[in-house]
Amino acid sequence: MVSKFNRDSKKIVHLAVNACLAPVCSMHGLAVTTVEGIGSTRSRLSAVQERLAKSHGSQCGFCTPGIVMSMYALLRNQPKPSLEELEIAFQGNLCRCTGYRPIIEGFKSFLEDYEVQGRAVANGKAGGCAMGDKCCKKQGACSKNITQNLVQPHQFAPYDPSQEPTFPPELQVADEYDAQFLTFSSERVTWYRPTKLSDLLQLKEKHPSAKVVVGNTEIGVEVKFKNFHYPVLIQPNHIEELTSVQVIEGQGVKFGAAVTLSELEATLKEQQKKQPETTTQVFKAITDMLNWFAGKQIRNVAAVGGNIMTGSPISDLNPIFMAAGCVLEVSSASKGSRKVTMDATFFTGYRRNVISPEEVLVSITIPFTKENQHFLAYKQAKRRDDDIAIVNAAFNLTLNSQKEVAKLSMAFGGMAPTTILATKSAKALKGKEWNEQTLEAALDLLVQEIPLSPGAPGGMILFRRSLTLSFFFKFYLSVQQSLNGVVPEEAKSATRQFHSLPTKSAQYHEVVPEGQALHDLVGRNVPHLSGSKQATGEAVYCDDIPKIANELYLALVLSTKAHANIKSVDASAALATKGVHAFFSAKDLSPDANQHGTIIKDEEIFVSKTVTSQGQVIGAVVADDQMTAQRAAKLVKIEYEELTPIIVTIDDAIKENSFFEQFKPRLTKNNFEQGLKSSEHTLSGEVHIGGQEHFYLETHCSLAVPKEDNEIEIFSSTQNPSEIQSMIAHMLKVPINRVTCRVKRIGGGFGGKESRAALLALPVALAAHRLRRPVRCMLDRDEDMVATGGRNPFRGRYQVGFDAQGKIHACKMVMYNNAGYSVDLSCSVMDRAIFHMENAYNIPNIDTEGFLCKTNLPTNTAYRGFGGPQSMFLAENYIEDIAVYLNKDPAEIRRINLYQEGDITHYNQELVNCTLQRCWDECAEKSDYNERKKQVEKFNNENRWKKRGLCILPTKFGIAFSAYFLNQSGALVHIYVDGSVLISHGGTEMGQGLHTKMIQVASRALGVPETDIYISETSTDKVPNTPPTAASAGSDLNGMAVMEACEILLKRLEPYKKANPKGAWKDWVSAAFFDRVSLSATGYHATPDIGFDIKTKQGKAFNYFTYGVACSEVEIDCLTGDHQVIRTDIVMDLGESINPAIDIGQIEGAFVQGYGLFTMEELVYSPTGTLYSRGPGMYKIPGFSDIPAEFNVSLLRGAPNPRAVYSSKAVGEPPFFLAASVFFAIKNAIASARADVGLKGAFRLDSPATAARIRVACQDRFTAKFPEPEPGTFTPWNVMP
Ligand SMILES: Cc1cc2nc3c(=O)[nH]c(=O)nc-3n(C[C@H](O)[C@H](O)[C@H](O)COP(=O)(O)OP(=O)(O)OC[C@H]3O[C@@H](n4cnc5c(N)ncnc54)[C@H](O)[C@@H]3O)c2cc1C
Ligand code: FES
Repeated sequence: MVSKFNRDSKKIVHLAVNACLAPVCSMHGLAVTTVEGIGSTRSRLSAVQERLAKSHGSQCGFCTPGIVMSMYALLRNQPKPSLEELEIAFQGNLCRCTGYRPIIEGFKSFLEDYEVQGRAVANGKAGGCAMGDKCCKKQGACSKNITQNLVQPHQFAPYDPSQEPTFPPELQVADEYDAQFLTFSSERVTWYRPTKLSDLLQLKEKHPSAKVVVGNTEIGVEVKFKNFHYPVLIQPNHIEELTSVQVIEGQGVKFGAAVTLSELEATLKEQQKKQPETTTQVFKAITDMLNWFAGKQIRNVAAVGGNIMTGSPISDLNPIFMAAGCVLEVSSASKGSRKVTMDATFFTGYRRNVISPEEVLVSITIPFTKENQHFLAYKQAKRRDDDIAIVNAAFNLTLNSQKEVAKLSMAFGGMAPTTILATKSAKALKGKEWNEQTLEAALDLLVQEIPLSPGAPGGMILFRRSLTLSFFFKFYLSVQQSLNGVVPEEAKSATRQFHSLPTKSAQYHEVVPEGQALHDLVGRNVPHLSGSKQATGEAVYCDDIPKIANELYLALVLSTKAHANIKSVDASAALATKGVHAFFSAKDLSPDANQHGTIIKDEEIFVSKTVTSQGQVIGAVVADDQMTAQRAAKLVKIEYEELTPIIVTIDDAIKENSFFEQFKPRLTKNNFEQGLKSSEHTLSGEVHIGGQEHFYLETHCSLAVPKEDNEIEIFSSTQNPSEIQSMIAHMLKVPINRVTCRVKRIGGGFGGKESRAALLALPVALAAHRLRRPVRCMLDRDEDMVATGGRNPFRGRYQVGFDAQGKIHACKMVMYNNAGYSVDLSCSVMDRAIFHMENAYNIPNIDTEGFLCKTNLPTNTAYRGFGGPQSMFLAENYIEDIAVYLNKDPAEIRRINLYQEGDITHYNQELVNCTLQRCWDECAEKSDYNERKKQVEKFNNENRWKKRGLCILPTKFGIAFSAYFLNQSGALVHIYVDGSVLISHGGTEMGQGLHTKMIQVASRALGVPETDIYISETSTDKVPNTPPTAASAGSDLNGMAVMEACEILLKRLEPYKKANPKGAWKDWVSAAFFDRVSLSATGYHATPDIGFDIKTKQGKAFNYFTYGVACSEVEIDCLTGDHQVIRTDIVMDLGESINPAIDIGQIEGAFVQGYGLFTMEELVYSPTGTLYSRGPGMYKIPGFSDIPAEFNVSLLRGAPNPRAVYSSKAVGEPPFFLAASVFFAIKNAIASARADVGLKGAFRLDSPATAARIRVACQDRFTAKFPEPEPGTFTPWNVMP
């Protein structure tokens, strides 16, 4: 948080900003507060930190400090914020773990209403629950053994704003910090801060290529990610002409170019309150647009001038400024001042305009509108909050008294290398009456005037072209409505914009039985035990480990070709750089030592001859520090000889017959052919589901420390310490006992750190070993995204036979996954896909097989659900097709095919304790499915351009590693003489609350309170030979091992308890110690009765299954492809949950991550294997406002699971697939839109259901104007891997 004293308003302003984009030089005279400065577990947590931790709003905790500071900055400005302000504050924050609901709920306690309610409950005055009207009692769901209170708000410490640190008085009293002309110089950059316009102009005259920097939100990105170097930077934030705001009577408002977007927004909102509505239409268009412009942190610093001068073709403000004809004032020392209108001539090319290098943009005047003027702007992005536009538009229309077009300006972004004005169309429409014919004429004119070639950068050609018409159509209708013109009732939905819906949620779970001992934490909602440390910034992640003496930094040299022979590698320039110590490549290892891989060793640590993907590691530069290493890595010259073919997509692989031949699993049940023949109906189909980037907030990181006797201690952000340990030993040719891998916690894993951590850990360990110095590296986000792979895309071809009721008799499924350049875990991913291709349905005849496509992409790997979500998605597609074929509700097809108790799967496993039907019934009832289905149909009949969809679907997820030997783990429990207990176990803590649950298990097993139990870290020298923390089995395996170790110790303590029954824990421990009894024990658990052989179909594939059902309702905008999730209800069987709050957090987090997979997360690749989506700018994960507006989660009651620790069930992956309910609700809504134009019958919708896919699938008269170009006649900009 940056705080400053505004000398005009005499107020202190607190701004949340992005630390990575805030240059230190720009902080002069400002007060900076970080998360460490507002509270600490050693003294006192701030109210924000405490409430977030207690509300279960921190899982891996990597996002938590940022979220804390956004809330803290809001509260410092506004101690009693409104819900809207709360939502706005988080537009720029992301969390990959929690699903946001607990964060929002926790922070709602700062809203005035909530505080009042919470206190009343605490004082016993309200006689009710702090949930107020949402209390389960009021909703009739509360009973003796069920509750919905995951959090006790009345236990929060009160928030007292007066106790916060004060703004430094010296910054307030004197203006010396503001008035100084400053110069900061380094070897590479000089930063000037003039305080007078004349000085600024002189500097610009002297250094025409100098960059004027205000928010640094564009320049910062260019320097960090595009390798731009700007030797001279000039900050104009203290120059009056560039920071002032002036209302010019009859003209408009003049804003200095360095006025921030937040200030622009505040001024324009104020003007809208003061001035007549007719005069402030441009202002309204801007403030509406700013709500969807970046996040608060960016708007707080980014300036209006920066947006104009950057000249991005997808700038959100430039279309408005151009349509409004805003006037700019530009100035230079030699030529003086001049006025420039933002018209069709303003932009002269990609990011270029008519302002010359020595000129400075001083101000912009935004005009008032007139009585007969209509001004509206539109934007469609991949994600509503904090996303750059795909296409945007602004329309400025003046009608004469005959309702004829007197003046029209139409600006579009995203359709050319610059923002454009459709001047020809506007001219042709002049004088025309505002009616349907003019609309049609306008559409045709725009089709002509705004072309886009089929291979244009940005792709999504049909979508983008359709949007130009959709926006104009929306504008047309809005104007008609405001003129009281004829607009059919059902068409009005076109003009309604989506707004953030107020969030609602409920969580139901069983409570612990009365009389359960207080120390026994099993079943209780214990907050994540690191939550407070995560909220204060004290939690230590790999890269937080303080620098060790002599430490060096490593930077990877990655391949930039997808398929090429390496002709030469020249590191001489890098090695000549001051501070560089070494360069490592394949030459530094024997071919055997260079080889690695989890299942088969088909990868090289450093590629020796042929790169088969971009992002492969060719070498590593080791230097004194990060900056030197990274710069030097870019100096390594690699000569390639490019090879063909470059196989990117599954289609390419099929065409080139490029598969990993040794992995072609096939599984059959009974006789598919016969089943099909005897079926009344048959159908077939094909569908594709794209990949997914893990986007853990902590990227891969390793720190290796060499020790004596060839020992290596490696700290790695891995889910698999034992594998890292053994791989390093193999590489260094030392016994495994010389390597120790340690993991304190990781900032999210989701499978991405199961096998891929080796990519970094191995070079880092090699460098440390060879140089005998500690070596560290943490990947930048773009490196992580380009090198480490993600979820396997899948293509499925299916054929089903079924009867008139929809009962399925036979199913054949052929699946292809895009494995990338190596096998990694893709074969096991395919195995799990084979096991889940029937999702939750009993199909008597099955034939399924899988192929691993070998492509020139980064190798794909484990990802939450591990192939299960992909194949269950394929299954739900044939269910939907059958429903369309039979004209039935898909819910009906699902219900009649659901597995029942005792049914046998296609891998010969009998379903025992199958609660699917119970979950289904409870979810259908809780969601009121039948009634809401009718309401959705009614809505769809009444609305043409907005459609709703509702979907209920089940999931069944098998719990166990498919590799037999991985189903084991261990624990080591020490009791020290003071009675304190230290637990080590084989699992890693990555936010899922594993350590918290293990302490809960030990609290019951040992009978001691949590305060006596501690888990420090996961380390291979404490518990050896462990499996990865994966397959949702962490709690099951390690919980049993911890329990066993505790029971061994308890047995040893038994005699001392008996001898001193009134004694306390410490007394028994002490007595045993003095009696020379070992107080240390190992526990070991191997899942019994498990292990399936796919060839013989013998054995049991899974220990048990986790079941769940979800119902989701969505609304789509048929004209833009936008959508909103209105409500989701989930019922899951998690046995007797060890910690319902953590488990519900896993359900919500998995659901929201799954929602990302099925709706917005899209890896964008060029046909030659270049990943375009290398960061949060282009790869969108769900944000705060994307979660279901109403989000209810219930854990099934009375369903103990006899096959896991304390009757619990695994939870990490199973809920993930339930997000497909949103996808199919969207498909349902699209089907309604298609039916309106007479398109009936099944249609293919690939995943994710992005705005582009939704819009294009809703075919209508606008899309019909753009015929699809012939495939093969052009090279597309991007392809679907
Ligand atoms: C996370 C993120 C999200 C974003 N989201 C959006 C979005 O939704 N919509 C959108 O349109 N943009 C978005 N942007 C782009 C960017 O925030 C805007 O373009 C912003 O307005 C730039 O302002 P700035 O002050 O930070 O520019 P800076 O980075 O400081 O400067 C940008 C350019 O403008 C030049 N410049 C600045 N002021 C002057 C001046 N007075 N005279 C001459 N040249 C000048 C600079 O020299 C530089 O070339 C986003 C950026 C980020 C990092
Ligand atoms: S808790 Fe938010 S990213 Fe992990």
